[in-house]
Amino acid sequence: MHSPKKLIAGNWKMNGTLESNSTLMRAVLEGDLRASICDVAVCVPSVYLSQIHSLIQSANLTTAHLGAQDVSAHEKGAYTGEISVSMLKDVGATYVIVGHSERRQFHHESDQLVAIKAERALKAGLIPIVCVGETQQERESGLTEVTVKRQLAAVIHLIGHCITEIVVAYEPVWAIGTGLTATPEQAQSVHAVLRAQLKAAAGEGAANIRILYGGSMNPSNAKSLLSQSDIDGGLIGGASLKATDFLSIIAAA
Ligand code: 13P
Repeated sequence: MHSPKKLIAGNWKMNGTLESNSTLMRAVLEGDLRASICDVAVCVPSVYLSQIHSLIQSANLTTAHLGAQDVSAHEKGAYTGEISVSMLKDVGATYVIVGHSERRQFHHESDQLVAIKAERALKAGLIPIVCVGETQQERESGLTEVTVKRQLAAVIHLIGHCITEIVVAYEPVWAIGTGLTATPEQAQSVHAVLRAQLKAAAGEGAANIRILYGGSMNPSNAKSLLSQSDIDGGLIGGASLKATDFLSIIAAA
């Protein structure tokens, strides 16, 4: 039996302005977060990390955290445009998403590269949120399990027993931004596969690894997804851009 503290993480993707971020973040922080028993994070565009860090700090909430959406696989140096783990730490990030399907798809990130990013993040004291998930075509070909296990195996292989320190997010690609959601049963069955794989690598400690679901999670489906035994939170795209929706999902956790 496991019961890690739930994590509701917003992924703002490439959205926002100084002004709209401030309005959104203030509304989230003024919500009932003090009463919430889960951890909350917002993963924002890098240029706005400092802005959101200041807002979170001034709210003085121990449950609210800052995250980035990607990080360089390199430590430092001549990598124009890249942002390092130490820079993310420097501006107050606690979490960093690695291997989001949009990066795998549009930036050709391999399982191996994602694993290196996860390792770098951990070594710098950041918590990587490692995303895995199958495409529609992979699901239809019966390749869901093979795909997510291959993606997670690359990370397990590189970081070994430190795997207990990561967060995993199962995000079926066909459910991202489409309004299609995995049913609670579909999601739970993949989460159970991932949990078993983590257990094989880390033993009983795997029970405490948070496995988030992401893909069109919204206020109306959050409760049924979050009540599944292996779903330990959510990674929320579109609905994290509306304070009322994001707060409803937090309340459902
Ligand atoms: P949506 O919630 O918009 O489907 O996005 C999910 C996602 O990709 C979070 O990382």
